Amino acid sequence: MSEDPIYRRLSVAPMMDWTDRHERFFLRQISAHVRLYTEMVTTGAILHGRRDRLLANDSAEHPVALQLGGSEPADLAECARIGADFGFDEINLNVGCPSDRVQSGQFGACLMAEPDLVADGVTAMRAAVDIPVTVKHRIAIDDMPEWETLIGFVDRVADAGCEHFIVHARKALLQGLSPKENREVPPLHYDLVHRLRAECPSLHITINGGIETLDDAMVHLKHVDGVMLGRAAYHNPYVLAAADRLVFGSDTPVTTRHEVIRAYCAYIEREIAAGTQLTAMTRHILGLFNGVPGARAFRRYLSENAPGFEGTPGEGVALVRTAVSFVSEDRCAAA
Ligand SMILES: Cc1cc2nc3c(=O)[nH]c(=O)nc-3n(C[C@H](O)[C@H](O)[C@H](O)COP(=O)(O)O)c2cc1C
Repeated sequence: MSEDPIYRRLSVAPMMDWTDRHERFFLRQISAHVRLYTEMVTTGAILHGRRDRLLANDSAEHPVALQLGGSEPADLAECARIGADFGFDEINLNVGCPSDRVQSGQFGACLMAEPDLVADGVTAMRAAVDIPVTVKHRIAIDDMPEWETLIGFVDRVADAGCEHFIVHARKALLQGLSPKENREVPPLHYDLVHRLRAECPSLHITINGGIETLDDAMVHLKHVDGVMLGRAAYHNPYVLAAADRLVFGSDTPVTTRHEVIRAYCAYIEREIAAGTQLTAMTRHILGLFNGVPGARAFRRYLSENAPGFEGTPGEGVALVRTAVSFVSEDRCAAA
């Protein structure tokens, strides 16, 4: 493995419409080391769409992985190569998404039933790029037996050279449940992911699903190599504040919420000047002050004033600063 495994200990999940480049830049102001993932980008979109927009990323985002959706090995290889050219540090294949749209394109969670095809895709991508190729998947789908499906899938794909697996620790039920329900209804089986790690000591296993705090992450890290946070990191981004010290052993001071906003404001100013809508950036920061007095007023001010904003970069930053003024720095430090 080419990189220090410590940098895989904590990551933020790929989330469509949520982990866009603005969200990733914002999260990077909170933690220098947490590994970030893009939203899933389909091979079709990369090959035939506006790849400069779809794959845009900021040099501050590293380490950052591109998640691909697809199953055709030649397309995956070409998109992995393009992703590496755009500077991504890892290519991750989505074998966990259960939406109808994804199933009709023959990728996502339905590929749990096609380990040979996934293995071919991994082989093709590994031949195309020097950066790590990883797979994010479920335990099983539908009525497939859980442990046998999980170990069979991982064994086969590991044979193709994949060394790092991210396991959303529940089944996906492809009929009858919406994608949202598929993140909530099938029960979590952390025990199976811990067992996978124990039985495959040469692989890197990251666990995902329902993990809310760094304390919980630290408990999992006694059993697996990495923890991936999804919704908790989006809704309550400051959950990552202690990650650099606690998870990565860094001795840099924790960045305060106000410092995070100050750094993000410099980004907002640049981005408005480049034509980005203010609300595309402010929608990701609504949860930053959760649990702190004034958080509600902060959220309300941004929600009421950022949509439709058409002012100058300086006015955009002033708007955000007004929202932040509802939260006192001192009370924030005490919270
Ligand atoms: C809004 C949303 C969008 C998601 N989009 C993706 C995606 O593009 N690719 C993917 O592999 N998983 C996606 N997921 C699933 C998450 O990556 C993660 O596996 C899931 O939310 C469970 O982790 P959590 O309980 O920590 O949120 C999405 C989840 C949410 C909430």
